[in-house]
Amino acid sequence: MYKFLLIIFLASATLAAQPAEPLRELAEARNFYVGAAIQSRLLLNDDYANTLSREFNMIATEYETKMCEIQPFQGLYDFAATDAMIEFAEAHDMAVRGHTLLWHECFPDWLARQSAQLNREEAIAIMQDHITTVVERYKGRISAWDVVNEAFEDDGRLRQTPWLQMIGPDYIEMAFQFTHDADPDALLFYNDYNAEVMNTKSDAVYEMVADFVARGIPIHGVGLQAHFITGTIREGGHINPIRLTENIERIGELGLQVHITELDLRHDGPATDYLLNLQAENYGEIFDICLAAEACTAVITWGFTDRHTWIPQFFNNPEAAPLLFDRDFMPKPAYFAVAAALAQEETEE
Ligand code: G3I
Repeated sequence: MYKFLLIIFLASATLAAQPAEPLRELAEARNFYVGAAIQSRLLLNDDYANTLSREFNMIATEYETKMCEIQPFQGLYDFAATDAMIEFAEAHDMAVRGHTLLWHECFPDWLARQSAQLNREEAIAIMQDHITTVVERYKGRISAWDVVNEAFEDDGRLRQTPWLQMIGPDYIEMAFQFTHDADPDALLFYNDYNAEVMNTKSDAVYEMVADFVARGIPIHGVGLQAHFITGTIREGGHINPIRLTENIERIGELGLQVHITELDLRHDGPATDYLLNLQAENYGEIFDICLAAEACTAVITWGFTDRHTWIPQFFNNPEAAPLLFDRDFMPKPAYFAVAAALAQEETEE
């Protein structure tokens, strides 16, 4: 009889293909956020909406809160998509990361057309109007903002963004101050890629945020995008876990938080079993690193189903499968590796 019951149990567990507890319950038991970037129109798909609300306790707005989308014409704001995503999050007890207030991409055409004619004061006024209008609307509803995204080049110099050219280097601290003025309770992050481990770019980011902290510019954290390549998370690899931990810890020593903000693990060619298992190992390691670092309080994947991800088109690989769920919303090995990492007992300090 016992053997019969065991077979039934194992079969049901396999068929269910989900662990006993959803990721969000495992995360909440550790006062941790596991999130996903979303798109409003996809919430109309039941599989998408149900998987999202069951498994995640945080969302990020993947593109619809960016300036070119939310202020498509000067002074004309389109909040519908962001409203819908926030209403969904609130209905399912999920925190919201607002992405992003200032970026050199999704820079609206109406502003690009006049940027060469604007003086510094006029540009500052446009920036302040945008930030204040958007952040005040969502005051108390968006808990963390990516205030400025990708302001540095890989060599550590400031990127020659239109904002830098119109205003000067202090556009960044102004953006943080304007955001804080509009919602004093929101957590304000600087967000970037290729600045995850100890390197020239992360040094430049660190020096900037350390200066902000020293001067009392309101900032609460650094977002590490973490768009990684499967198989490169290892000592001697592009993402050395020790150097990632060092960077997270030095940011934490400033009193700032770290969010892994856009995690996905791409690969070349088809998603073979070998790659899916290596991907799972890498996802588990990234979560282990963040969970072990006191300053790291959230991991957000950039999407959650391989059906909707920027990777295939951007990296010209239609077979790319970078996320935790497959195209049919079934959990992949990566999902179970993340569940295992979240289920581990917190190590005693
Ligand atoms: O949803 C519309 C669809 O209805 C329409 O038919 C189609 C053609 O116009 O556009 C679709 O929207 C596109 C959207 O992605 C969803 O696919 C937008 O035009 C397109 O601009 C948008 O691109 C986003 C991109 O940022 C620019 O905002 C990507 O989703 C998003 O993944 C990407 O995310 C960036 C982060 O913000 C910063 N870090 C890098 C990351 C990847 O590039």
